Amino acid sequence: MRNLAWINGSVCNLSEASISLEDRGYLLGDGVYEIIRVYNKTPFYLSAHLERIKRSAREIRLPLPYSPVEIEAVITDLLKQSGCIEGYIYIQLTRGPAPRDHLFPVEPKPSMVFYVREMASPGGADAVKPGKCITLPDERWLNCYIKSTNLLPNVLARQKAAEAGAVEAILYRAGGIVTEATRSNVFAVIGDKVRTHPESKLILSGITRRIALDILEELDVPSAEEAFTIEDLSSASEVFLTSTTMEIKPVCAVDEKPVGNNKTGPVGRSVIKAFWDKIAEHCPKE
Ligand SMILES: Cc1ncc(COP(=O)(O)O)c(C=O)c1O
Repeated sequence: MRNLAWINGSVCNLSEASISLEDRGYLLGDGVYEIIRVYNKTPFYLSAHLERIKRSAREIRLPLPYSPVEIEAVITDLLKQSGCIEGYIYIQLTRGPAPRDHLFPVEPKPSMVFYVREMASPGGADAVKPGKCITLPDERWLNCYIKSTNLLPNVLARQKAAEAGAVEAILYRAGGIVTEATRSNVFAVIGDKVRTHPESKLILSGITRRIALDILEELDVPSAEEAFTIEDLSSASEVFLTSTTMEIKPVCAVDEKPVGNNKTGPVGRSVIKAFWDKIAEHCPKE
């Protein structure tokens, strides 16, 4: 496939795409973004992602310059031109180019870019492998529900995790309350219930998080959007992460302490299987 970009109306190779040095997304992180997975040529839960970027944009007082119908048309065309089978679509909306100043430009020219890039898919539930996590204080701002391009605390925490041989850093705030991880939401089986932090300004409301909650309900597994602490996490029989790029990722150890028996537990296994059934349903092979 060809990795292609769409910048304010024109399509080019991703490696040749460029934007203004004075784009406020580049200078100030003044923008929002989305990542949508493509399986079998089909975007997975596209409308939920478009709803979320609309909400993120509204929260930073930056209206979407295109309608959902226009955006869908751009995505359909990019996927077709690129020949993408397994990959992802990245969308970024910024307040556009302007002489550097924190103040909004008087006449903003928002910049909306899309690109599609190849990304191999594990291909099914059986290929999913658990990973280790570390825990770190959540040092982000208090509006994590906005999917903003300001990701420095996430970048630093994720780097620390990688240097410790972990796939993710699970983040906690005052009182040890687990919010989420640097690029995923966190679920834990504590006692007989699966818990995840409730929707609030302190977490990004993940599209995969919502899919996992729906799956738990469909499977009749007791679950609650109920916060838990680092201490609760250390007694969890299972922990898993959810995100567009990591899908449903079982956690086998937190801070080097094994979770359950170091393998994917029964709840994790059923959620992973049901998740892949949803992919097959929404993005069927031709
Ligand atoms: C901080 C954070 N939390 C959660 C998620 C998971 O969201 P989604 O499932 O919509 O990919 C992400 C994804 O990028 C994220 O960056």
